[in-house]
Amino acid sequence: MLASNTGLWIRAILMPELKYKRVLLKLSGEALAGDTGYGIEEGMIRFIAREIKEVSVLGLQIAVVVGGGNIFRGLVATAQGMDRAVADYMGMLATVINGLALQDALEQVRIDTRVQTAIEMKEIAEPFIRRRAIRHLEKGRVVIFVGGTGNPYFTTDTAAALRAMEIGAEVVFKATKVDGVYTADPLKDPTAQKFDELTYIEVLNRKLNVMDSTAISLCMDNHFPIVVFNLRERGILKQLVFGEKVGTIVKAKSS
Ligand code: GTP
Repeated sequence: MLASNTGLWIRAILMPELKYKRVLLKLSGEALAGDTGYGIEEGMIRFIAREIKEVSVLGLQIAVVVGGGNIFRGLVATAQGMDRAVADYMGMLATVINGLALQDALEQVRIDTRVQTAIEMKEIAEPFIRRRAIRHLEKGRVVIFVGGTGNPYFTTDTAAALRAMEIGAEVVFKATKVDGVYTADPLKDPTAQKFDELTYIEVLNRKLNVMDSTAISLCMDNHFPIVVFNLRERGILKQLVFGEKVGTIVKAKSS
């Protein structure tokens, strides 16, 4: 007993301090699809669950907003003639499927989770209740928010920004397929340059693909930082929570 307590003390002394106490991780639906581009890839969701576990066990409070584009893309359906509101509701349902899959993957690695949905479906998940979500986080549970904002015409990026502020998170970690924000799509343009940091206004004026303009505006009005990073790099969440300069940070003023 004494030995194990001593071990804990030594670990506490040697471990660098976490930069954040509470964060919101935004995962796109495509992130769950891995290389297949559609649906949920088993290996990918397990990888994501292990990455989340790695920071959760450090004591970081972590909430997740998941997208649904791996199952249904509202904007594509709208372009093909579907009513926008209908398409958006279908997209919100897709996020519920992804959230339950992530819950399962996290529980397989023995991380306690709660799923809260913006669209009430009480047989499947808890309704979104802000104060309850915060209690879950305080108890070390990973809270997965699904159903977007519950409203059509809003993206899951906006849901991520909104929930992050509601739960008193300090930052939005926006997971992407590249290691930050570039002048152009680095997967298509080899001359694209990476930004280490950007202001909200620069993102909006240059129409950079970080989050949609509603989400960026919400963050700008509330001085809420966003870090864009490549989730596929192993250990990157851990680097971020220890304050390493990875990815691109979007904030009010450049330093
Ligand atoms: P504590 O207050 O810490 O006990 O939180 P708790 O979430 O463990 O308590 P609660 O008794 O509210 O929940 C027990 C289980 O039921 C958890 O897995 C919840 O996610 C789940 N649960 C709670 N409310 C709902 C609901 O409205 N719908 C569904 N489907 N599950 C719910």
